Amino acid sequence: MIEFDNVSKRYGPDGNPVLHQLSLKIARCELMVLIGESGCGKTTTLNMINRLSEPSAGTVRVDGQDTQLADPVTLRRHIGYVFQGIGLFPHMTVAENIAITPRLLGWTPQERAGRIEELLSLVRLDAARHRNRFPAELSGGQRQRVGLARALAARPKIMLMDEPFGALDPVTRDDLSDDYRNIHDELGLTTVLVTHDMTEAFLMADRVAVMRGGEIVQVGSPSDLIDAPADDLVKAMIESPRRRARKLAAALAGTRP
Ligand SMILES: Nc1ncnc2c1ncn2[C@@H]1O[C@H](COP(=O)(O)OP(=O)(O)OP(=O)(O)O)[C@@H](O)[C@H]1O
Ligand SMILES: [Mg+2]
Repeated sequence: MIEFDNVSKRYGPDGNPVLHQLSLKIARCELMVLIGESGCGKTTTLNMINRLSEPSAGTVRVDGQDTQLADPVTLRRHIGYVFQGIGLFPHMTVAENIAITPRLLGWTPQERAGRIEELLSLVRLDAARHRNRFPAELSGGQRQRVGLARALAARPKIMLMDEPFGALDPVTRDDLSDDYRNIHDELGLTTVLVTHDMTEAFLMADRVAVMRGGEIVQVGSPSDLIDAPADDLVKAMIESPRRRARKLAAALAGTRP
């Protein structure tokens, strides 16, 4: 479905390489999480799928087609994108934000209105209460739900999500990540999601790709990573949610670990 074949990237002719011969295959209907420390190349990798960023070498294929040969506008119409940070247009209402792509695609006002209702219900926002609000009149979690609805508006088969829940409190974050996993399954989406939270990665992902310094260190299911971490870095990353779970269990039992 999505394939990176020996992809390298440098920004500008004399910039340092930020991705080194990266290869990765993401299957149809898979939820793949990219995880790694700040600056390791997660956003750059994600952005290559819809040509917001171009490879300096190697090939990215979507549905078998080299994205370099695809028209970027057509490509992006089939790919939903939820940005790092919020990214809603502040001067547009919730409904207008969601309808941006359908409007560009020439849907009628009735079709757009119907789709807005459907999407608000899918992301569990009350349409009557929220439809005509501006982003500033919503909580962070509600804004992120609108961002998700907007990305889904034109019925994409692929969703790219860059730290979609990063700025949210833990409860809202858990709710949204559960809701998203259900939406992913229900709509048969293929999702690539960036996070730096290993617990979130383990709870959501079919497979996790651990990145470091522009390379993929390990790709596998959560249990693959737990059973056989590729190196000390992966081991340490896995240990962190475990350590927290142990501390929590001890705190709940009224003892110290
Ligand atoms: N437009 C750009 N021009 C030049 N360098 C860039 C550009 N975008 C990213 N970089 C550099 O490429 C590297 C990878 O950046 P990228 O945004 O992919 O990292 P990331 O893993 O998403 O980090 P974070 O977790 O902080 O979002 C960084 O060193 C960054 O400074
Ligand atoms: Mg990033």
